[in-house]
Amino acid sequence: MNAGLIGVGKYAPPHIMTNEDLEQRLDTSDEWIRTMTGIEERRIADDETNTSHMGYNAAVEAIENAGIQPEDIGLILVATVTPDYPFPSVATMLQDQLGAKNAAAMDISAACAGFMYGIVTAKQFVESGTYENVLVVGVEKLSKITDWNDRNTAVLFGDGAGAAVVGKVSEGRGILSFELGADGSGGKYLYQDDKLKMNGREVFKFAVRQMGETAVNVIEKAGLEKDDVDYLIPHQANIRIMEASRERLGLPLEKMSKTIHKYGNTSAASIPISLVDDLAEGKVKDDDVIVLVGFGGGLTWGGICMRWGR
Ligand code: ACO
Repeated sequence: MNAGLIGVGKYAPPHIMTNEDLEQRLDTSDEWIRTMTGIEERRIADDETNTSHMGYNAAVEAIENAGIQPEDIGLILVATVTPDYPFPSVATMLQDQLGAKNAAAMDISAACAGFMYGIVTAKQFVESGTYENVLVVGVEKLSKITDWNDRNTAVLFGDGAGAAVVGKVSEGRGILSFELGADGSGGKYLYQDDKLKMNGREVFKFAVRQMGETAVNVIEKAGLEKDDVDYLIPHQANIRIMEASRERLGLPLEKMSKTIHKYGNTSAASIPISLVDDLAEGKVKDDDVIVLVGFGGGLTWGGICMRWGR
């Protein structure tokens, strides 16, 4: 039995913060941010909108898209490093709000690789026959842990949510291979005490190496060649990091997802948000081989190779 993504959804808060807005409050420039990161604007949630609200909206869309009912969900996994509270988990809040009364629920902490960890965990439960449908949500309100006086980090992040229902798909389709990994010795390069702290150089070096390696590994594990890949969705952290992984696979520009200019780095939400936009624009089609790859604080990483379609 193959597990795959049978429905997806996203939520982006309506308020747009542009690079020009940041120029007003920090010693930075639109030119620097565009060139060094690829970001033009990002979405920022208002005070009334917390992580669970965004996650709920994305989840509702994914459940509808999958054509199932909330009661059909056996497990809810929410990947986030910005939960509303340390506990109860966002996953249990969603379980209540969605009316998913048959679902177990827990949060996953793997930073920007969280959605990858969530999907791979969901796959195990679906393929073992334990749960028919698992809801995976990647959601962050990074604006609440961003140090708005630190130009090194304040320009990078945005808020948002993406979700997917993992369920049974037809033979040949679905998740073909995956890789998850961690290197806790690099935890010091990206962490939160009060606010988010980052050693950008070290994270950059790690990300360039790991994103490329993981992408190549999942293609090999799926028994495929680089040429078989139709589309790459990298974690939207920095256009230069994304470009490095695209070049490693030898893919042309149009075969890589790019939504970072609109949303900035939304951490665990960035891959599912990109997937939803790409599907809407017809960039991902049934039977396409797609590679998803992410990295994040921990340090953590994860990649998935799948053949799209139910
Ligand atoms: N505006 C203007 N200048 C800036 C800004 C800014 N916003 N930020 C830094 N600078 C300056 C620095 O002060 C430095 O100036 P100096 O040479 O006078 O000291 C210069 O620009 C170069 O800075 P570096 O940090 O060396 O530049 P770098 O090439 O490393 O690019 C960046 C910085 C964009 C942050 C890069 O390191 C990066 O993208 N790293 C990875 C970040 C990332 O992906 N983080 C999140 C991953 S996981 C997660 O999503 C939670």
